[in-house]
Parts: sequence; C-alpha cells; structure tokens
Amino acid sequence: MPESSMTGKRILLGVCGSIAAYKACDITRSLRKIGAEVTVVVTSGGARFVSPLTFAALSAAKVYGGMFDEQDAHTIPHINLARDHDLILVAPATAQTIGRFASGMADDLLSAVVLAADCPIVVCPAMNSKMFSHPATQANLEKIATFGYQVVQPDSGPMACKEEGPGRLPELAVILNAVEQVFIPQDLAGKRILITAGPTEEPLDPVRFLSNRSSGKMGYALARAALLRGGEVVLVSGPCSLEAPANVEVIQVRTAQEMYDAVLCHFEAMDIIVKCAAVSDFRPAQYGLEKLKKDGADLLLELAVNPDILATLGERKKEQILVGFAAESENHLGEGKRKLAAKNLDMIVVNDIKGEATGFQSDTNRVTILTRKGAVKELALLSKDQTAMAIFDEVMVLGGGGA
Ligand code: C5P
Repeated sequence: MPESSMTGKRILLGVCGSIAAYKACDITRSLRKIGAEVTVVVTSGGARFVSPLTFAALSAAKVYGGMFDEQDAHTIPHINLARDHDLILVAPATAQTIGRFASGMADDLLSAVVLAADCPIVVCPAMNSKMFSHPATQANLEKIATFGYQVVQPDSGPMACKEEGPGRLPELAVILNAVEQVFIPQDLAGKRILITAGPTEEPLDPVRFLSNRSSGKMGYALARAALLRGGEVVLVSGPCSLEAPANVEVIQVRTAQEMYDAVLCHFEAMDIIVKCAAVSDFRPAQYGLEKLKKDGADLLLELAVNPDILATLGERKKEQILVGFAAESENHLGEGKRKLAAKNLDMIVVNDIKGEATGFQSDTNRVTILTRKGAVKELALLSKDQTAMAIFDEVMVLGGGGA
C-alpha cells in the first residue's frame, strides 16, 4: 500500500499574480512532502510576486512561464504539460486568469494548458473581496464549475489591501484536502460521521487529574480519513495537542461525562460512529475545590465508575454503524469478540498495546478488525492514516451506515 494517496502523483501548480502567490511556495513544499511531484507554471503576474527561481528550488523541477520560450519550442509545452499531469491546481487564481478559463482563452501558457487538459482541475481564487464578489467574477466561477473544475471557496478576513471580506486564499490544509480528495473515492459523501479521540481527564482537585497515555493520533487520523472520503465529520476530542483537520467540526471535552453528553447530543443525526477515545473508566468520587494537602499519611482515593458511552450507544442504536476500539494486553481476539457482542457493535478494532510500534503514542498501529458478520481482518503494521483508511474500507463493506 503506498504511504499516501498522493505518492507519485504529478501535480501542475499554476501560480497567478496575487499577493497570495507567496503562499504557493508552501503549497509546493507541502505537496512534495506528501509524495507528489510538482511542476510549476507561473503567469507573468505571478512571476512579479515570486521569482521562478524560488519555485524551481522548491519543486526541484523546471519552472514554466512564457508560452513562446524558445528553448522549449520543440516540446510544445502547453500540450505536453496538459498531457503529463494527474491534476492541475491553480493557487492563487486571479480574477483575470479565472476570466480566461471561463471564456476559453489561451493567450498565456497557464490558460492554454488548462484548455488542453483532460485531468481534474482545482481552482483556488484569491483576490480583493470586491473583485471576488463582482458579478463578472461570480459568473466566471459558476461557468468554470460547469466545466467540471472544482472551485475551492476563499476565506473571509482581513486582506493585504486593508479591506475585509471573502477573497483570502484558504488555509494550506484546506487546499491540500481538496487536492487529496480528487484521488480518493468519495464513498462517504453524504454520510455524517462522529469520531471520538484522545484521552479523558478526570479531575481530583484543581491541579490533579486521572488520565491515560492516549495521544489522540488514531482518532485524528480517522477524522482525516473520513473527511478525505467525502464525509461530514464531527470530532469529539479529549485533551490532546494535535491540530484538528480543516473542515471538521471539533467539540473539545475534558471528562468522560462531557464526552458522554457531546456524543449523545449528536448520536441520532449520525450514520457512522467510531469510538476511538480512551475513555477513563473511573473518576475520583469526590472533586475538591481546593488543592488536596499532604499531611504525611497515606491517602485512599475512592473512584466512581464512569458511564460506558459505547455501551449506551449500542443500546440506543437504530440504523447507525457503531465501531468500537479495544486496547488489550492479552487474549485480544477473545476480548474483542466479547465486547463486540456485549456492546452491540457492528465492528470492533482490537489492538495489542504490548506490540512493538503500536499503541498510544506511536505513529503506526497493527490492528485486527472484527465485524458482526463474523469477518476477522488482521491488518499489517501500518501508519495510523493507512489504518484509518482500512477501517473505513471495512465500514463500507458493512454497508456504510444510514440511508
Ligand atoms: O470496555 P472497554 O473500555 O475496553 O471498551 C473500549 C471501547 O469502549 C472504546 O471504543 C472506548 O471508546 C469505549 N468506551 C466508552 N466509554 C467508557 C469506556 C470505554 O465509550 N466509559
């Protein structure tokens, strides 16, 4: 399995003359970091903002600019560039270039390549908010959408021209998601997916709490995978230091009770629920408003049992697909099967917390998936991103959930 769906993908990045052109440097680097090969085509305006030399260094490839560069004449660059790429990303795309695309003009290299291409095209407009909102620009964007080009909506906010409004180039993560989604089947489109991640913290006093070693990495990888497959994702996250994927609704919680409330509040509207969080089974029976003082004597801590969120969902579920996790240190499959039945789950993902390079803090995982239909699927040692993708593959085999 390739490390990422982007491994070896050939991306042509078109950079136009907007102040946001400097952000195309980061886009180039990030695309290469996730395994893509990048060829940059800079318009004459784009080259006024960022030197082609910068893109050549960042892409480690020749940068194309003029339509009639003599040294390239024998290669017919606009046709070969169109033919040789898996996707064209135009970021930033200016009003002028979008107008060229909409009217089928081919008077510079980028517009000629786009006209000659039959690969997917993703356009990220970036311009002054009045230029963006102008009916001409809006009509052009609608028109290129009818050609099948994907338009990534700009962000709103303060702009370099000291105005505020829509027109800012979206966050890097949003652009990368839009690119990655092109290469991933959108089999979760229209599905609402709730994922829980991370540990919970159960306070004893204002400074101390009970928790566990969950990093949240597996749950966040699941949220990212569901999003990349087109799902609408709600992530209920316990305290962890990870950045949530762009375009995911994140609900931050601290205790098991808060997680219970957040999950139950969203449960009915969901098609698929993946309970990856390492919920604390117990909480201190008493919470002290003041810091507990030591007085030389031992302290006996009384613990109260937390509600089992997953078991509650199992009792209440109707059409939803319910996926649980089980972190076990012995008799993995036996325990997994028992919990699958006891909590009325559709699937359980069992992992061996004693295994090498698996478990809490690691970037990799080795899990076995058990389903209510009796399937037992042992996955290899994979990155958590790959494991998340494989879990949703099995969810799709079970029917994907919902209508
Ligand atoms: O029974 P056990 O705690 O091993 O089950 C783990 C699964 O149950 C995980 O999916 C976890 O998110 C969920 N769980 C829960 N509420 C709890 C404890 C665990 O939802 N209080």
